[in-house]
Amino acid sequence: MTEPRQGTAKQDEDAPPVQTFLRYTHRGAPGLADTVFEVADLSVYYGDYEAVRDVTMAIGRRQITAMIGPSGCGKSTVLRCFNRMNDLIPGARVSGKITYHGEDLYAPEVDAIEVRRRIGMVFQKPNPFPKSIYDNIAYGPRVNGVRKGLDDIVEEALRQAALWDEVKDKLKESGLSLSGGQQQRLCIARTIAIKPEVILMDEPCSALDPIATAKIEDLMHGLAQDFTIIIVTHNMQQAARVSDRTAFFTADVDDQGVRHGRLVEYDLTGQIFTTPSDKRTEDYITGRFG
Ligand SMILES: Nc1ncnc2c1ncn2[C@@H]1O[C@H](COP(=O)(O)OP(=O)(O)OP(=O)(O)O)[C@@H](O)[C@H]1O
Ligand SMILES: [Mg+2]
Repeated sequence: MTEPRQGTAKQDEDAPPVQTFLRYTHRGAPGLADTVFEVADLSVYYGDYEAVRDVTMAIGRRQITAMIGPSGCGKSTVLRCFNRMNDLIPGARVSGKITYHGEDLYAPEVDAIEVRRRIGMVFQKPNPFPKSIYDNIAYGPRVNGVRKGLDDIVEEALRQAALWDEVKDKLKESGLSLSGGQQQRLCIARTIAIKPEVILMDEPCSALDPIATAKIEDLMHGLAQDFTIIIVTHNMQQAARVSDRTAFFTADVDDQGVRHGRLVEYDLTGQIFTTPSDKRTEDYITGRFG
């Protein structure tokens, strides 16, 4: 079944009334019937420095959620919380709560490796392994013990990433021999080959030309039929084109002159880009700031 796209947020009759979500979505997430993550009062520290403060938002299943805002406002920091990548940064810690399907993502018994299997990540710079195209895709399934049906898995992942036709005759060639845009689609294929539920993308197109960017954007619409996507982008047109919901972050300066990232406004993308409710959002999207 095709999931509704932008501007037609899911309204599920069985869904709890919107009020139940208000605790988590005080910056607005109307019609968010099916949540994957609920973030409540999340702050992230690097040592003593509180990089991001009090983020509260919910992420809808099989939706594309965009995070926008000026450099240094904590977008990547928040994104990395969704699959516990910040655990790998010495001195980084979080306070507040993130639940994944209602379970505390940071509970001591939660296996961070399993979290990263279910919640994959695509980085700004394409980073294929120095292996063949085939082995790049087969790597994750192999690590997970898959021995049979690898050819089919590789083909399916490459098809889903809209790369199959370009590489089907050269699967043994190095992933590094591909163009930048192809490498990024290879990385997306590698991520989806292990069948995650969520894909986190941190500026996945910033190293790509407009044609490669358009290909990835087209691809994202298709991927959102099967996956929940959270994307950080500096490109506001991209956020407006691809996402269902947009979160606008900025950085406030406190009494001591220290900057802390904050979520200013979170809403349906159409709303954010046409009638934002906060002046700071309006200034940013109209180019008066940042
Ligand atoms: N590993 C780290 N150690 C210490 N401070 C960090 C680390 N990573 C990020 N920060 C700080 O946290 C704040 C938020 O950084 P972050 O990278 O999340 O911002 P961003 O919104 O993704 O910016 P950009 O748009 O430039 O990528 C910044 O002040 C940054 O210097
Ligand atoms: Mg960043």
